[in-house]
Amino acid sequence: MPRSEPIKAVRGVRDILPRDRPLWRATERAAAEVATRFAYQEIVTAIIERAELIERVGEDTDAVAKELYRFEDRGGRKLALRPEATAGVVRAYFEGGLNQGPQPARLYLFGPMFRYDRPQKGRYRQFFQYDIEAIGSTSPALDAEVIEIAAGWLRESGISDLRLELNSIGDNVCRPAYLELLREHYRPFKDQLHGDCQRRLETNPLRLLDCKVPQCQPFKADAPRITDHLCGPCSEAWDAVRGLLDAAGIEYSHNPYLVRGLDYYTRTVFEFYPAGATGQQDALASGGRYDGLAEAEGWPSTPGVGFAGGFDRVVEIMAASGVEVIAAPAADVAVLADAGLELAAAEVARICRRVRSVAVDYEPKSLAAKMRSADKLGARWVVLLSGDEAPRRVARLRDMASGEQAEVEWDQLPERLA
Ligand code: HAM
Repeated sequence: MPRSEPIKAVRGVRDILPRDRPLWRATERAAAEVATRFAYQEIVTAIIERAELIERVGEDTDAVAKELYRFEDRGGRKLALRPEATAGVVRAYFEGGLNQGPQPARLYLFGPMFRYDRPQKGRYRQFFQYDIEAIGSTSPALDAEVIEIAAGWLRESGISDLRLELNSIGDNVCRPAYLELLREHYRPFKDQLHGDCQRRLETNPLRLLDCKVPQCQPFKADAPRITDHLCGPCSEAWDAVRGLLDAAGIEYSHNPYLVRGLDYYTRTVFEFYPAGATGQQDALASGGRYDGLAEAEGWPSTPGVGFAGGFDRVVEIMAASGVEVIAAPAADVAVLADAGLELAAAEVARICRRVRSVAVDYEPKSLAAKMRSADKLGARWVVLLSGDEAPRRVARLRDMASGEQAEVEWDQLPERLA
């Protein structure tokens, strides 16, 4: 049935067009290279997960409570499009037996994530992450290692002017007592907090610290800082991570209010921002340690640390700061043949493809129009085929820059184009 309106893309979801891919490819290549240099291996996990797995990430997490794409399949199974990769990577680490291999398992992943967020610049409903996870070790050296990977990736993507914010949010030994202190601090002002924060005061008071609503700000300044209330092991880890970052020459600032949106974090948490960005701007990469996540998923207790970077945001910054990537032309060679010579054109193209990328123009249009298309493709050479030349297996090879043209035997073309 004919429709009056063409069917457009889903809201908050974008296509990455060929003209944009070179920048994406450059930052993807940097990501894979840095990961490989640090001996991280690529893993690809499912985009659809059981909703339950994702919900274990934390019920007071926006990505779960408000933004999860949740659905039932035809068999009535409760499923979700993954909003982030860590829960699935930890699942795959156990299901795939990586817990039996060398520890820690060092893994990286590229892929789409889905969050039903309000779409705006830098925030999409389908977006792409570079995810790094080191699973199976409590060593603070790995916290510093994943931070060094994030910094290396952003620098090699051409973004060197960065701000790194760092904090420790303790563990289940020291955090409960701190949360009680935090509640005591906020309770006298409860009525002055906004609705979500009033609720969080009892359920998840840590999130009061990263609330951005103006009416909640005045009560933050003299709130107790968790880094003043860490237990012995958390305090040692906090010192070790900072010492390792200093030794690596990675600058950071301690943000005592940095607590992160996902509930599974313990100890180190961090976020990378473009240097000039205000606090409200979205992070380019963020992560931390999650020593309780495996257990929350029902697996044996296993520590881990990692981060995810947002490719969409990184590409936007690269484009805005003028990072240039030389894009290969769509085709090096355009084969232009007279009507009826499709077979010959296909054969000539096959010969030329031994050394070059080749596009054949099969459209019924004038030679001048075909030349204009070849130019738009960025072709360096055009191979012209006419009805009287094809039977002799010769063609005219035209150099688009100089305009020089010569008759060449088909079998000599690879040599001339090499
Ligand atoms: P996250 O902070 O929720 O952490 O997301 C990581 C990064 O993904 C953000 O810093 C941002 O660059 C990008 N991002 C998030 N949401 C969007 C969106 N709607 N549109 C575009 N980009 C977005 C995590 O996902 C954790 N799993 C990171 C982690 C790995 N922690 C430990 N291991």
